[in-house]
Amino acid sequence: MKIVAICGSHRKGNTEWMLKKLLERAAENGAEVELILLRKANIKTCLGCLACEGDGNIRSGVCKIKDDMKEIYPRLLAADCLVFGTPVYFDMLSGLLKNFMDRTCAVWPKLKSKPVAGVAVAEEGIGQAVRNLQSYAGICSMPWVGSVTGLAKAPGEIAKDKNVTRRLLKLADKIMEIKKD
Ligand SMILES: Cc1cc2nc3c(=O)[nH]c(=O)nc-3n(C[C@H](O)[C@H](O)[C@H](O)COP(=O)(O)O)c2cc1C
Repeated sequence: MKIVAICGSHRKGNTEWMLKKLLERAAENGAEVELILLRKANIKTCLGCLACEGDGNIRSGVCKIKDDMKEIYPRLLAADCLVFGTPVYFDMLSGLLKNFMDRTCAVWPKLKSKPVAGVAVAEEGIGQAVRNLQSYAGICSMPWVGSVTGLAKAPGEIAKDKNVTRRLLKLADKIMEIKKD
C-alpha cells in the first residue's frame, strides 16, 4: 500500500501535523508513505490552456508548464491512495491545494478508482472544505474513504485534541484495509 498525502497549508501547522500523524500510523502498519508539502514545491498556476486535452481526439495528458508538477504526476499515479489535507480559508479549501488540483488537469482521468481521503482544520468551522475535496473526488471518480476535521488556530494546537488524533489513527487503519487490485 503506497499512500501519498498532499498538504495544502502555507505553514508547518495543523494540517501538516494531522497528515503526519495519519501517515505515521499507516507506516507502522507497513504502508509506504509520502508527504508532498505544496508550500515547498514550485507549482505555477494552471494557465487554462487545455493543451493537456490535446486536439480533441487524442488527449495529450501533458502539461506544458515546466515546474515541480512534472515529477509529482508520476508519484500521484503510483499511489494506491491519496490523502488531501487543507486548512480552511474562508470556508473553503486553501488556494494552494486548489491550484494543485487544477494542475492535475493533465492526469485526472488516470486517477479514476484511486481511493482518496481528506483532512481539514479550521479555527471555528470547516465550512465547505471537506465538500470541496469530495467534489474533486467525485469528478475524478475516486472513491471517498473518509475525512477527519478539527478546530485549531496556532500551529500545532491540533495535537492537543485527543479525539482528532484517535480519528486520524482510525482513518489510517481504514485506508490500510483497502484491497489493492
Ligand atoms: C486566509 C485565511 C483564511 C481563514 N479562514 C478561516 C475560515 O473561514 N474559518 C475558520 O474557521 N478558520 C479560518 N482560518 C483559520 C485557519 O483555518 C486555522 O488557523 C488553521 O488551523 C490553519 O491550518 P494550518 O495550521 O495547517 O495552516 C483562516 C486562516 C487564514 C490564513
